[in-house]
Amino acid sequence: MLVLFILHTNTKNKFMCGIVGYIGQREAYPIVIEGLKRLEYRGYDSAGIALYDGTNLKVCKTKGKVSDLEKRSEEEITTIGNIGIGHTRWATHGVPNDVNSHPHVSNSGNLVIIHNGIIENYESLKKELITRGYSFKSETDTEVLINLIEDVQKQEGVKLGKAVQIALNQVIGAYAIAVFDKNRPDEVVVARLGSPLAIGIGENEFFIASDASPFLEYTKNAIYLEDEELAIIHLNKEIKIRKIQDDSLVDPYIQELQINLEQIEKNGFDHFMLKEIHEQPKAITDTYRGRLLRNEAIIKMAGVEDNMKKFLNANRIIIVACGTSWHAGLVAEYIFEDLARIPVEVEYASEFRYRNPIITEKDVVIAISQSGETADTLAAIKLAKSKGAFVFGVCNVVGSSIARESDAGAYTHAGPEIGVASTKAFTTQITVLTLIALRLARAKGTISSSDFRTHMLELELIPKKVEQALKSDKLIAEIADIYKNSRNCLYLGRGYNFPVALEGALKLKEISYIHAEGYPAAEMKHGPIALIDENMPIVVIATKKGHYEKVVSNIQEIKSRKGKIIGIVTEGDEQVRALADHVIEVPETLESLSPLITTIPLQLLSYHIAVLLGKNVDQPRNLAKSVTVE
Ligand code: G6P
Repeated sequence: MLVLFILHTNTKNKFMCGIVGYIGQREAYPIVIEGLKRLEYRGYDSAGIALYDGTNLKVCKTKGKVSDLEKRSEEEITTIGNIGIGHTRWATHGVPNDVNSHPHVSNSGNLVIIHNGIIENYESLKKELITRGYSFKSETDTEVLINLIEDVQKQEGVKLGKAVQIALNQVIGAYAIAVFDKNRPDEVVVARLGSPLAIGIGENEFFIASDASPFLEYTKNAIYLEDEELAIIHLNKEIKIRKIQDDSLVDPYIQELQINLEQIEKNGFDHFMLKEIHEQPKAITDTYRGRLLRNEAIIKMAGVEDNMKKFLNANRIIIVACGTSWHAGLVAEYIFEDLARIPVEVEYASEFRYRNPIITEKDVVIAISQSGETADTLAAIKLAKSKGAFVFGVCNVVGSSIARESDAGAYTHAGPEIGVASTKAFTTQITVLTLIALRLARAKGTISSSDFRTHMLELELIPKKVEQALKSDKLIAEIADIYKNSRNCLYLGRGYNFPVALEGALKLKEISYIHAEGYPAAEMKHGPIALIDENMPIVVIATKKGHYEKVVSNIQEIKSRKGKIIGIVTEGDEQVRALADHVIEVPETLESLSPLITTIPLQLLSYHIAVLLGKNVDQPRNLAKSVTVE
């Protein structure tokens, strides 16, 4: 579908990390440290930096966050190098510690590496290197790779670039690496396979990073390496890019970045998550702009238009996704079936890929992913493609692996989402999926032209209504204060708002570490009702258009068991107000569009509870923004 980013799996150590590098005339340290802070969403178990000034090499690394590295650097860093590389790590196996942190240095002390990915055959390579006299300080595959490069350099008598290339041809796995050699202080060699790597190009200076955010204030020109490419970045010379396998030269494609610095900064908000919650009116508008043409009464999406036959002839749509994106998929199930009358199945990508699913050429698979890098989702679409299904990607990151792997797709235009808990990605995913469903419904004739127009009109009003919903922020903060010490919380919703209940519960779990469950309101009596007592807060989405009377009955059932009710209600509601302990009003909209509004107070509620509990909202423990391991 288009151009940029990750994937890697393995058995022992699994990493999703951020890498940064600089070579040029400036001091590398502040660039690398600030860059690592911007990439911390990729992992934050440990961090490290290596600086070289042409004479002295200084490596500083530590378990913990980039702020811990910064503290340690204050004492340890004595070198002001013009060449520097840094790493922030997320490990799934093996305890993160100082020794295992990157950068790693080769046995001779000359070669230094940072690595995002995994070398699967590192154990056999390590054994071989040990027989040649190499020793290892860490348990990492990365230290094996840097010594393999060193060994090749010695054996073959080749320069660094060639040595890296020969070594990479011996490894199985995935990587984005940056390597430098003390003997060649004007050169950094980078390479990628399955993990993202961007090179920022300034005037006689170069930046290296997992994404462009670390160098946006220095340059807007960047090369995104493709898989199996190696680049030799030499000061005063043109960048040389080669294919790792066959050594063929590749023409560097320099693209102008469209992202602004302010998009990746907090802009006065305390947290990225809060900023992103407030960005939703704009993100939703950006997502439907140019696609929803109300005056012409059409919806235009190239990826759908070009493949209309596939959609219209589909036996069914299978949606694959993980986490919040899976919840957006559940909302889409209601929209597609309701409006376009196409049967939909929504699958956890991780389950789908491992259960020998029945997939035929008449299936359309929609993969939803903010990052476009989630390993399970990527694997699921590869499986679907291998069975001949048509794969349509809904991604936020342009050029991501899932975007590229899909046969066609549509981007959400949410802008960079940095808070680990997804917010604006969710609402923009629903926006895109609604547009697709409406377009298909029109083509199939399952929606009348007046209903179609009503939907278009109402979708255009959603950003204003989200703004309105955001005004309850203060009230929500007060409610958060009352329930911040709860140990459990239930979220209930029906129909379109059942997936919203799941998403509300997920948000609370993710950032406040309070146990929460989302349930279809009517299912409550088949189990969760046993949990209800006066200590249990229950968030009930009870808007007017979604089986309102039935939900009101569920609220009565909760009330008779003394549960504390927080109702998400339509403006002006009196009935639920009379029953609930608290109500949060949201503007009225069509039932099919209501998730775009009802999700807002739930995002704010979890945000405020987490803040009141002093949790790290943007970087919750154990989570990572893009999960590039199975
Ligand atoms: C991680 C993130 C979630 C996200 C999920 C799927 O678990 O913490 O916020 O929903 O991955 O990510 P994707 O990028 O595929 O939407």
